[in-house]
Amino acid sequence: MSATIIDGKAFAGKVREKVAGHVSRLKDGHGITPGLAVVLVGEDPASQVYVRSKGKMTVEVGMKSVEHKLDVETSEADLLALIARLNADPDIHGILVQLPLPKHLNEDLVINSIDPAKDVDGFHISNVGLLGTGQKSMVPCTPLGCLMMLRDHHGSLSGMDAVVIGRSNIVGKPMAQLLLGDSCTVTIAHSRTKDLADVVRRADIVVAAVGRPEMVPGDWIKPGATVIDVGINRIERDGKTKLVGDVDFASCAAVAGAITPVPGGVGPMTIACLLANTVTAACRANGLAEPEGLTA
Ligand code: GUN
Repeated sequence: MSATIIDGKAFAGKVREKVAGHVSRLKDGHGITPGLAVVLVGEDPASQVYVRSKGKMTVEVGMKSVEHKLDVETSEADLLALIARLNADPDIHGILVQLPLPKHLNEDLVINSIDPAKDVDGFHISNVGLLGTGQKSMVPCTPLGCLMMLRDHHGSLSGMDAVVIGRSNIVGKPMAQLLLGDSCTVTIAHSRTKDLADVVRRADIVVAAVGRPEMVPGDWIKPGATVIDVGINRIERDGKTKLVGDVDFASCAAVAGAITPVPGGVGPMTIACLLANTVTAACRANGLAEPEGLTA
């Protein structure tokens, strides 16, 4: 194996430390405690795990964590009323509505009812538009985490060829915008892309975000390329449950220059960036200089 392993777990720890420093500054210097509200509708087990973990880390960096756990049958009107209350609450600087929502709720309508300044997921249509036009916005957490790791590893990304595999609104599309913002030449590949192997082989940076276990083999990777694996897939192997990414780690690590592992790569960066976005939102809401290195 030749690739440098990009340790997302350690990097996320450093980001949380930085966030905690800014939280102390806001508290001690300005009497402001950044507050994050997480809204969970229903009892999806994976979502419950995420929400618990978000709450714990929010408190660990010194911020206020508020959780609203709503019944699976909650009406759209009741959910919108809760969001309106959180939008108006000056102690709440970030609002996250855990997705997916139950089928009877219109996800776009709900997300777009969040005050864009408090939309720490960066999913509101205003933030999507601001990011797309290169303006200051709230940036989706997973792609922001990937960008931070890439910048840390490479310094400048200017002029690099990047391929993003996957075109989701949560990862693929914002990732492509961020890489474009850092002057990469960007290709977005997806399920209908002709000769995906050929497209990936041209890339200096490969971001895999498709949700298909180990679908990228090492012989698609240009020697020395950087591979960012966003996938978190649970598979059964040798009678055991195992977490694997969207790339075949062993064969890709043999060719790549650097690679993120699963687990311990992109995953821990997502929550760290959620906390970073919340402290950024709290600074902006109070007209204070925002932290450096925690935004795009
Ligand atoms: N569900 C899975 N990932 C996410 C995320 O990043 N944000 C929200 N709101 N829901 C999710």
